[in-house]
Amino acid sequence: MLNLRYYSQNTITIMDKSKLGLPVGTTLDRFIKRNQDDFSYATGELSQLLRDIALAAKIVNREINKAGLLNIAGAFGSTNIQGEEQQKLDVIADIRFIRALKNGGEVCGIISEEEEKIIDVGNNYGKYVVAIDPLDGSSNVDVNVSIGTIFSIYRRLSPVGAPVQNEDVMQSGNEQVAAGYVLYGASTMLVYTTGHGVVGFTYEPSLGEFFLSHNHMKIPENGSIYSVNEGNFNEFPEKIKEYINTCKEKKYTARYIGSLVADFHRNLLKGGIYLYPPTQKNQDGKLRLLYECNALAFLVEQAGGVAIDGKGNRILDIKPYEYHQRAALYIGSKNMIKDLQKYLELNTVMAD
Ligand code: AHG
Ligand code: MN
Ligand code: MN
Repeated sequence: MLNLRYYSQNTITIMDKSKLGLPVGTTLDRFIKRNQDDFSYATGELSQLLRDIALAAKIVNREINKAGLLNIAGAFGSTNIQGEEQQKLDVIADIRFIRALKNGGEVCGIISEEEEKIIDVGNNYGKYVVAIDPLDGSSNVDVNVSIGTIFSIYRRLSPVGAPVQNEDVMQSGNEQVAAGYVLYGASTMLVYTTGHGVVGFTYEPSLGEFFLSHNHMKIPENGSIYSVNEGNFNEFPEKIKEYINTCKEKKYTARYIGSLVADFHRNLLKGGIYLYPPTQKNQDGKLRLLYECNALAFLVEQAGGVAIDGKGNRILDIKPYEYHQRAALYIGSKNMIKDLQKYLELNTVMAD
C-alpha cells in the first residue's frame, strides 16, 4: 500500500492513500479504446462515433452552463414537427449534435426529435445511423434544472455507398448497437451501453474530459421511488390509477423532475419505477419511441431492469412505423415492473 507523507505543523503525518478514493484515471477515450473489441464489427468506427457524441456533449454542456448569461434560455419562437414550442437550446443542441456527427464521418443519416425528416448528412460511406433527442426536458431550461440528451445508434441496413434510406432508421430498439444519454446536472455525465453492460462517465470541466466514474451500473431489483406526472392522474387508465394508489399505500417516495433523463438516472442509481401512461391528449403516451424510449429501454435492460409499453410489449420489440411515433413507457426496477404487470393483467415477455 502506498503512503503519502505530508507535514502538518510540526508533526509528520502518514496519510493512507487508499482513503483518498479512486484515482481519476480512465478517460472516456481510453476506455472506449480498451473496450473496442466488445463490438461485433470491431473497427474503430463505432468508437469514433461515441467520441463525436462526447465532443458535441461538451459543447452543449458549455452552452447550457452559460445559458442565463448568453440569452439562450427561453423560447426560440417556433414549433417543431410535433407542434411543441422549441426552446433556443433545443435548436442549438440539435445543430451541435448534427454538426459533430456529420463532421465525424461515421453516420450516413440522423433522425432528430427537432427535425421533420431524416437528415442525409451526405456521407454515403457512413455505416451507422443515429436517432437523437438533442435536448430532453426543455421545459426545465429556463429554471436551471437538470436536462439531457438521448441517443440511439444503429447499423444501417441499406448498402454502404448509397444514400441513407428510410429502413435504416425504422429499426426496432432490439437492433441498437449502442445507446446512451448525457445528463447536464449538478455534474455532467455521459452514460452509455454497447450491449455489454452500462458505464457512466463524469465530466471534469477544468480538464475538458469525461472520466469513468460508474462502472458496471446495475439498477436495484427493488425500489421505493415512483416517478409520474400525477397532474394527469384523472386521465390515466384505471389500472394505472390503482397501481399508483398502491404506491402511496406502500408509502413509496414520489420523485418527478420532468426531465426524463434526470428521472431515469435517479431511478437507475437508486431503484424505482418511471411511468408515462396514455392521457386524453396523448393517447399513445407522450414520449417518443425512437428518440427517448428505445435508448433508455436498452440501457435499463443492460442494467438488469425492464421497460414495457403497458400493452403487452417490451419497448425494444416494437417495430416503428413513423419517426416521431410515441409510446407509453413504464421503465425501471425489475420487481417493480413485475408488480405493475399484475395490475395491468399482462404477461409481457421480459428479457432475462
Ligand atoms: P422534450 O423536452 O425532449 O420534449 O421531452 C420532454 C419529456 C420528458 O423529458 C419529460 O419526462 C416529459 O416530457 C415531461 O412531460 P410532462 O411535462 O407532461 O410531465
Ligand atoms: Mn425528450
Ligand atoms: Mn427534446
